[in-house]
Amino acid sequence: MEIRAALFLWLLLSSSAATKLVQLSTSDLVAEPCHSNVTLRCNVSQEAGLKVSSLFWIRKRDNKTLCAVQQTGLKSHDGHRIRCSYTPPAQLALTFTHLWPTDRGDYICKLRSNRGIKNNTSKVAVEECYGKVYTDYSPSKVGCHFHGVYPRGEVHWFHRGKNVTSDSTAADPGDPNPKGMYNVSSTLRTKGDPNEYNCSLWIPGAKTYLASVLVHGSERGTRLAGRGQAVSVHIVGLGWLLILAGVLIV
Ligand SMILES: *[C@@H]1O[C@H](CO)[C@@H](O)[C@H](O)[C@H]1NC(C)=O
Ligand SMILES: *[C@@H]1O[C@H](CO)[C@@H](O)[C@H](O)[C@H]1NC(C)=O
Ligand SMILES: *[C@@H]1O[C@H](CO)[C@@H](O)[C@H](O)[C@H]1NC(C)=O
Ligand SMILES: *[C@@H]1O[C@H](CO)[C@@H](O)[C@H](O)[C@H]1NC(C)=O
Ligand SMILES: *[C@@H]1O[C@H](CO)[C@@H](O)[C@H](O)[C@H]1NC(C)=O
Ligand SMILES: *[C@@H]1O[C@H](CO)[C@@H](O)[C@H](O)[C@H]1NC(C)=O
Ligand SMILES: *[C@@H]1O[C@H](CO)[C@@H](O)[C@H](O)[C@H]1NC(C)=O
Ligand SMILES: *[C@@H]1O[C@H](CO)[C@@H](O)[C@H](O)[C@H]1NC(C)=O
Repeated sequence: MEIRAALFLWLLLSSSAATKLVQLSTSDLVAEPCHSNVTLRCNVSQEAGLKVSSLFWIRKRDNKTLCAVQQTGLKSHDGHRIRCSYTPPAQLALTFTHLWPTDRGDYICKLRSNRGIKNNTSKVAVEECYGKVYTDYSPSKVGCHFHGVYPRGEVHWFHRGKNVTSDSTAADPGDPNPKGMYNVSSTLRTKGDPNEYNCSLWIPGAKTYLASVLVHGSERGTRLAGRGQAVSVHIVGLGWLLILAGVLIV
């Protein structure tokens, strides 16, 4: 009886000592624009004699295991866009190669080891972005179409230094696609004026113009006028460059 009690006490003490020993540190809040690459790291503190029996990255929203390290090795559950990499014995990294707005939320890193069970959480936030912008022109109107926008935005038009947004017609952005992104489109009646029109993407939630491109009156048809970049969201002037490049190629 006494031996059993002593054993119990020893187990209790050693297990509580063990959970204090191993530490899991995870990336804190990660805030990046959508379409960018984001990596969450989970580092296990290096303790002498530590044996990791399993290590996971779990999405809290639906309790889905995205990365799992077990006896059988590393297993990724969505190998295309969400990638996992394991650097034994200390680090499990989860990478979104193309961040979607629907990825925002909490991710739990969970460890089972001979030094105890532990978990820690990383938070992912998604910043405003757009994917591509197309422009078009006909003698009576110009159009501007931003694809892959987050969050919801609206197009504002400027012509000869004047805000002419009230002459434009915005398309209903509708529901977001399954990635959480919107298409934002607008057309402006031009009355045949062949000058350049400035079309800017306004994000009301962020109170900022995320992008602006010039639609030139001499252009005809539809073309890709720019591409949103995670690193530089302001592409003022780039639209022109791409339009010029397009003209040269055509
Ligand atoms: C979780 O990770 C953070 C950041 O690395 C660290 O500061 C914190 O102490 C960890 N929490 C626990 C309970 O281990
Ligand atoms: C994890 O370890 C790597 C180096 O091994 C370090 O660059 C990174 O900042 C660490 N991350 C956290 C969340 O502790
Ligand atoms: C999450 O999944 C694990 C195993 O798949 C299960 O043991 C656990 O109870 C689940 N947790 C919740 C909160 O659903
Ligand atoms: C994102 O990751 C993918 C795959 O690793 C890579 O091909 C691509 O160049 C990366 N993009 C950026 C902007 O770092
Ligand atoms: C994470 O650890 C805390 C405290 O140790 C525990 O209450 C919680 O249930 C754990 N969560 C998961 C998902 O294992
Ligand atoms: C342009 O006009 C729109 C619609 O009237 C308005 O919401 C926006 O704030 C104006 N922008 C500027 C820079 O004047
Ligand atoms: C946005 O436009 C593209 C190309 O026209 C289309 O494939 C896509 O389904 C649209 N997305 C939404 C959310 O309407
Ligand atoms: C278009 O107008 C916006 C708002 O006035 C301005 O911030 C932006 O620099 C202009 N873009 C170009 C390409 O002229």
